[in-house]
Amino acid sequence: MSELNHTYLEALQMARWERPDIAALKRTAEGSWLLESHSMTARLKRHCHDFDVDVIAVYQLTPDKLTDGEIALIGQEACVVREVVLKGDGRPWLCARTLMPASTLEGQGGHLHALGTEPLGQHVFKQRASRRDAIETANVACLSHQLHARRSRLWLHNRPMLVAELFLPDSPVYGKEIPA
Ligand code: PHB
Repeated sequence: MSELNHTYLEALQMARWERPDIAALKRTAEGSWLLESHSMTARLKRHCHDFDVDVIAVYQLTPDKLTDGEIALIGQEACVVREVVLKGDGRPWLCARTLMPASTLEGQGGHLHALGTEPLGQHVFKQRASRRDAIETANVACLSHQLHARRSRLWLHNRPMLVAELFLPDSPVYGKEIPA
């Protein structure tokens, strides 16, 4: 794993997650990004020609390694962890770490194992039985930047996953939104 990706993932895991004041967050420039309830991939794709998912790591995590906050959101189960960097026109835009509990990966969630470079949200939001809730946000200090991060729970066929996302300095979150 590159030094930089390691730094991003470490910063993401140090985040102090808070339930946002939704009304106040909506009034900020980054609010509509952090509160995006549909696919973040679809949103990011509007800002680039080439969109890539670099899969940094996929590994198993035993239930004792989950934090209390994670357990409160997805239960205390063995998980598969998926760590990726999303790139727009070759520039790193978003670092994400997703916890997929074993029971989410059973049955209808089985193809999550074989996602590869298909973006997670793109896959999840193709399914009718999907939704996002429990959005939390954090400001994360990383390499002399103050970065926005969010954590949210994605439901697929009524089974949860937990997605933590760090918006990297070049991401369009910090610039001007192009109207849809
Ligand atoms: C992923 O493919 O793991 C992924 C994609 C987009 C996100 C988060 C995670 O916003």
